[in-house]
Amino acid sequence: MELFDVYKLWPIEPVKAKGLKIWDKDGVEYTDLYGGHAVISIGHCHETYVNMLQEQLNKLGFYSNAVQNSLQRELASTFGRVSGYEDFALFLCNSGAEANENALKLASFHTGKRKFIAMEKAFHGRTFGAVAATDNPKIRAPFNLTDHITFVPLNDIAAVDKCLSTGEYAGVIIEGIQGVAGIYEPEAQFLQEVSSLCKKHTALLILDEVQSGYGRTGKFFAHQHSGVVPDIITTAKGMGNGFPIGGVLVAPHIKPSYGMLGTTFGGNHLACTAALAVLKVIEEEKLVENSQAIGEYLIAELSKMPIFKEVRGKGLMIGMELNPGYETLRDKLLFEEHMFTGGAGANVIRLLPPLTIDKQTADKFIDAIKKLTA
Ligand SMILES: Cc1ncc(COP(=O)(O)O)c(C=O)c1O
Repeated sequence: MELFDVYKLWPIEPVKAKGLKIWDKDGVEYTDLYGGHAVISIGHCHETYVNMLQEQLNKLGFYSNAVQNSLQRELASTFGRVSGYEDFALFLCNSGAEANENALKLASFHTGKRKFIAMEKAFHGRTFGAVAATDNPKIRAPFNLTDHITFVPLNDIAAVDKCLSTGEYAGVIIEGIQGVAGIYEPEAQFLQEVSSLCKKHTALLILDEVQSGYGRTGKFFAHQHSGVVPDIITTAKGMGNGFPIGGVLVAPHIKPSYGMLGTTFGGNHLACTAALAVLKVIEEEKLVENSQAIGEYLIAELSKMPIFKEVRGKGLMIGMELNPGYETLRDKLLFEEHMFTGGAGANVIRLLPPLTIDKQTADKFIDAIKKLTA
């Protein structure tokens, strides 16, 4: 059997990693400034993470959601404390798309309504509801066509107001910072106004923090920079440092009922252990603070470089829009300087490094850009 060929692959095969370093099968060393799509939050093969997972694997890898699992309760309680959402409840699933799918479903159950507002250029994942709320017709099959979603421009409060005033909408879904689009931030005032409009029209505000959460932007969740309290928050990527896990954080006014949501694998013993290890390291190594400090430094230094038209983002979620003529920089960083970065379209480089990045590595990246564009 061949692989179903849906990914355009770099000709590189990583076989080993530690911290911010990756080695390929030929022994070439790379610096990871992308974390495999924002997934590696605490660095590759962190000792605490490896030890905790090994220990759990030797005890119990999996049992179903029909029995008690105190690791889930421990995760909910630690997650609540570290994120500042102690009064919320946690539903565990396996990926970002699944978290958003469940969030949309929950908002619809709660309000009894079927329509949602999503932002233009949004990316929420590839399952039915998530892909319908993703503004990219190329990844929607005819089966996915629905009139349940209305796209409005990011930060256009009048457009949100117009839809919500009809009373037909169950909610609004917004990324904490738009990632796949190329790093675009919702304005604080926009989020605050959306939040109050949702309250006024009995709709729910869903914050998709799948990419922007877990300390990435210098706060636990990106929306915490604007002071809003959403009704539902979704999370995945950095949550398990590579172990598949997603979560839906649900405000206390939304009540559960048996069977309303469910999953076979969600919240299994290994996934919970991975997520607990991540939170432990985030706290012990003060990674949210590190993300804020190194991110601020990187953004300030990169903003001085004339090759960039614009440098956007917060903390360690950075988009660098290239001026014309520099479109090959990302390839050169990879093949000449052995540095992994991400892209968004032809002219934006996305930085999503592990939150453990230090100033020395940040400087190495800046020097590499200077060298390649001299
Ligand atoms: C903001 C956002 N939401 C949802 C997803 C989907 O997550 P997953 O690929 O884990 O389904 C992504 C993935 O890139 C994302 O960036």
